[in-house]
Amino acid sequence: MRVLVTGATGRVGANMVRRLVTAGADVKAMVLPGDPLRSKLSPFPDIEIVEADLGDQPAIDAACKNVTHVVHLAAQLIRGDTPVDRFYDVNAFGTLRLLEGVVHAGGPIERFVLASSDGTYRPGAPPAVPLTEDAPQEPADYYGTGKLLGELILRNHAAQYDIPFSITRFATVVSPEEAGDMFRLGFWRRVLSWQALGKDCHIWQLFDGQPNLLKILDAQAGEAAGDTAVGLTGPDGAPWTLSLLDVRDAVDGLYLALTEPEAVGHAFNLAASRPTSHDEGAAVIADAYGVPKLMIEMPMAHHLELDIRRARTMLGFEPRCEFRDAISEFGPW
Ligand SMILES: NC(=O)c1ccc[n+]([C@@H]2O[C@H](COP(=O)([O-])OP(=O)(O)OC[C@H]3O[C@@H](n4cnc5c(N)ncnc54)[C@H](O)[C@@H]3O)[C@@H](O)[C@H]2O)c1
Repeated sequence: MRVLVTGATGRVGANMVRRLVTAGADVKAMVLPGDPLRSKLSPFPDIEIVEADLGDQPAIDAACKNVTHVVHLAAQLIRGDTPVDRFYDVNAFGTLRLLEGVVHAGGPIERFVLASSDGTYRPGAPPAVPLTEDAPQEPADYYGTGKLLGELILRNHAAQYDIPFSITRFATVVSPEEAGDMFRLGFWRRVLSWQALGKDCHIWQLFDGQPNLLKILDAQAGEAAGDTAVGLTGPDGAPWTLSLLDVRDAVDGLYLALTEPEAVGHAFNLAASRPTSHDEGAAVIADAYGVPKLMIEMPMAHHLELDIRRARTMLGFEPRCEFRDAISEFGPW
């Protein structure tokens, strides 16, 4: 198995390279030209590294030569001032260019796996709880729509060129290096400040028509320090919930999507075995870092939960990590 991994220096990508190398696969890692994170690949001296931007068809064509499998992780994620067209250029047309690269390479491709997102299910106001893969995908933001277009373009090319494909839709990915930042007062200040972005925020439906949420948070937090463990509740006091996906489970799921015959032609939600409630998330942070815990009431409820039964039954996906496992591998904040 000779696997091209795009986005190989990313949060998921570098872990996927490790997963594949451990499994004995021959890895070609695609990185952006001049990528400052390229040193993340130095623990893997035996892999081949190729430079290509998803906007550069000739470079992509070269990257796609002599590979039997593709794991497509490269993407434009949600970043403050990203120009709108970039989400489509990277996540939709970049996927098209990569598929064209596979076609131009001419060799039979045994599996093309696309990493997609819970963001395709309208994360600010999900159409169902929990979300199965059959839930409507109506994202109404640029990132989610770009990822959904990537899925559609893949399905079209797969049908045109007989490419065996699989799609994984990740919950919010948590890596041990970053998990200690979550469920903190400072973290929620950042998230709620997105309300000021209006419809430029990927979860704008959650904030739409609400009063100033940052003010509500700060009024209840009082003098609490920014590192205080904080979870949010709805007006009935019930904690918000969200599905998380430890990066180690993400790469296990990707590996199954890449290798299991049953995966072909299907999309799979990937998440931890159960959603994390904000009460639990804040308690984990409070215990691990010895900080006080606060629950703060918001005027609305929010639940973004992925149903993973399809991945379990068809792929044998069995996530091993909960939020607390990511924290326990991380040092003090
Ligand atoms: N992180 C999450 O919470 C999350 C949730 C759902 C889905 N996903 C999806 O999972 C995948 C991996 O996400 P991640 O968290 O590792 O992201 P990341 O931002 O850490 O990594 C993205 C990678 O893509 C590369 N990249 C960006 N633009 C590129 C371009 N124009 N050409 C070539 N490479 C480019 C970057 O260099 C980086 O290596 C993405 O497809 C993302 O949409 C992530």
